Amino acid sequence: MLNLCDIQRHPEIETLMDKVHEYLKTMGAINHDEEHALHVARLSAHILNSLGYPQREVELASIAGYLHDIGNVVNRYQHGMTGALLAFHLLNRMGMPPEEIATVIAAIGNHEEKTGYTVSNVAAAVILADKSNVHRSRVRKEDMASFTTRDRVNYAATTSYLNIDPENREIVMHLTIDTEIVSVMDYFEIFLTKMLLCRRAANFLNCRFGLVINGNRLL
Ligand SMILES: [Fe+2]
Ligand SMILES: [Fe+2]
Repeated sequence: MLNLCDIQRHPEIETLMDKVHEYLKTMGAINHDEEHALHVARLSAHILNSLGYPQREVELASIAGYLHDIGNVVNRYQHGMTGALLAFHLLNRMGMPPEEIATVIAAIGNHEEKTGYTVSNVAAAVILADKSNVHRSRVRKEDMASFTTRDRVNYAATTSYLNIDPENREIVMHLTIDTEIVSVMDYFEIFLTKMLLCRRAANFLNCRFGLVINGNRLL
C-alpha cells in the first residue's frame, strides 16, 4: 500500500512540486513549498489520528494533504480541480486502488474556499490543516508596500496551531496576530470564508470548531 514516503520520493511528483514553488514565486503568491505540503500532510493525518479514525484513512489524509496544491503547476485558478486530475494520473500509475484514489482526489478537489465542500473525513482534515496554516513565514515579498491583504494577514500571524480535543470533540485554532500590522477585524474580513469552511469541516468530523485570537475565544 502506498504511503506518504512513496509519494514524497516519486521523481515526477518531486519535479511538479518544485515547479509549483517556482511558478507561484514568480506570481509573488504566498509560499506553497514542500514545507507547506508537509505541514498539511502531517496535520491532516494528526487530526484524523487524534479523533480515532482508521489508520488507512489517516495515511490517505497525509497523501491528500501532501498533494493538495499540486494543481498550481497548471494555474492558480481552480488548482484544486486540476490538482485532483493530476493526482489521479500519478496515483493510478503508481498502482493505488481506485477507491483510495477517489478519497484522495475528492479531498484535493474540495480544498478551495469557493468550490470546496466537505465530502469525506479526509477532505475535512485537509481543509482544516490547509486553512489553519496562516503564518508570517509564508509571505515571500520583502517590500511591505507591495503586500496584498492576504500577505498582510499572513505576515501579522506570528503563531498558529490547531488543538484537537478528542474527548470534548473540539478543534480549536489558536492564532497570535500582531495588531500593529492588521486588526482582528481585518483578519475576519479576509479569512471569514476560510473559518466557515473550517467550521463545516470540524462539524463533519462531529466536532465543534473554535477560534482563539491573541488569547481571546471568538468562536
Ligand atoms: Fe490550495
Ligand atoms: Fe495549501
